[in-house]
Amino acid sequence: MLIIVVNFHVCKLIRLLMKENFQQLQIKRRSIRKYTPELLTSDETKLILEAALLSPTSKNKHSWDFIAIEDKDTLKALSLCKPHSAAFIADAAMAVVIAGNPLISNACVEDASIAAINMQMQAEELGIGSCWVQVRNRNYSETITSGEYINDLLNIPMPLEVVCVISFGKKEKERTPADIKNLKWEKVHIGKYELEP
Ligand SMILES: Cc1cc2nc3c(=O)[nH]c(=O)nc-3n(C[C@H](O)[C@H](O)[C@H](O)COP(=O)(O)O)c2cc1C
Repeated sequence: MLIIVVNFHVCKLIRLLMKENFQQLQIKRRSIRKYTPELLTSDETKLILEAALLSPTSKNKHSWDFIAIEDKDTLKALSLCKPHSAAFIADAAMAVVIAGNPLISNACVEDASIAAINMQMQAEELGIGSCWVQVRNRNYSETITSGEYINDLLNIPMPLEVVCVISFGKKEKERTPADIKNLKWEKVHIGKYELEP
């Protein structure tokens, strides 16, 4: 336990000394889908969930709920929520299901999305990998949506609708950072919308 605490603080100190600023964090963050078997510490889990709860929400209505899952069997079941691009949830140390309540806010999808990316950025700051798994508008089968499957699996009541699942875990390996010199600046329009000449 002492080693884990010391390790946590040493990593924090190294990051502080490296002066990891927000843009460097954004460049470094990539979707991580391969995790080591290592669990997250309770401090790390708390910081990630605090990032969710600190997120801004439309009219300050906090239209979301978060279900944090560490149980291996539940993670495995969650990984089956859609046929493609969710299997890696089974190997995550933790997954957080983010559900929005449309009766609380008609901006619940936006509220949930902001909380999701804030958790991902907090995870990255801790050196923890994460990946967004889209649930809204996705299907478990021809007759059951991914959201219905998860609501049933986790006893999530109506009218809560799952927007996404974020998987977290220690990275099996680092990925190539984003290329700051190769951003899609053509997507930025100054003053009014203009196509590239
Ligand atoms: C709204 C949204 C939905 C996504 N859904 C999935 C998904 O279901 N499965 C997955 O493996 N990755 C998913 N991703 C991750 C994207 O594939 C990834 O962010 C994108 O390819 C850019 O790569 P990067 O995150 O490494 O920069 C999603 C990302 C976003 C923002």
